[in-house]
Amino acid sequence: MSRVRGFISFEGIEGSGKSTQVKLLAEYLRTKGHTVIETVEPGGTRIGNKIRSLLLDPENQMDPLAELLLYYSARAQHVREVIYPAVLRNAIVITDRFTDSTVAYQGHARGIDLSLIDTLNEIVVPDMRPYLTFLLDLDVEEGLRRNKDAGKMDRFEQETVDFHNLVRQGFHQIARAEPDRVKVVDSSKSKEEVSKEIIRTIEEAWR
Ligand code: TMP
Repeated sequence: MSRVRGFISFEGIEGSGKSTQVKLLAEYLRTKGHTVIETVEPGGTRIGNKIRSLLLDPENQMDPLAELLLYYSARAQHVREVIYPAVLRNAIVITDRFTDSTVAYQGHARGIDLSLIDTLNEIVVPDMRPYLTFLLDLDVEEGLRRNKDAGKMDRFEQETVDFHNLVRQGFHQIARAEPDRVKVVDSSKSKEEVSKEIIRTIEEAWR
């Protein structure tokens, strides 16, 4: 699977500051003259947003396999409706979460077989992976506290601290396996410091 130069993803546990950093990076790249598409998973399309509501509704008791397949339904639509067309016209696509979230949440934390997730990736996202992935790393309790203070309480935020620690460990495992693609950034720093580090990393990687 080849890494696409203009495709960047952000990953991390709840409250790790991904959406803020997506915006800051997009603003920076626009000042450099790039066309930038900011997007999010699950979501990014009309259908994806409907699936997102199902996935995050705290009233839903969801079977893990149903959950996995809904993420891939949203992703199939997102990749074909938004990501591929944008990449083809040489825009930069920055996504808040992508396939690493599935490996960390549904694989490492829910316990679904990682080879099944690999197979779904090959079917749904053939021949494309992000050029760079920023893993915003933060203590789980700190991240959950940040989201609680912001009034965010969806189906995943209701999971235990142990669940979120499995997610965090899953992300670290991915980063260890693919150090060229996945860059770990300490997200306990100020948003300005985190943003500077991200911009520095991108400029080096694109040089
Ligand atoms: P967000 O709140 O960061 O937008 O993400 C939505 C939730 O969905 C978050 O708790 C992580 C979860 N998620 C998965 O479990 N698997 C996935 O593949 C993706 C993209 C997100």
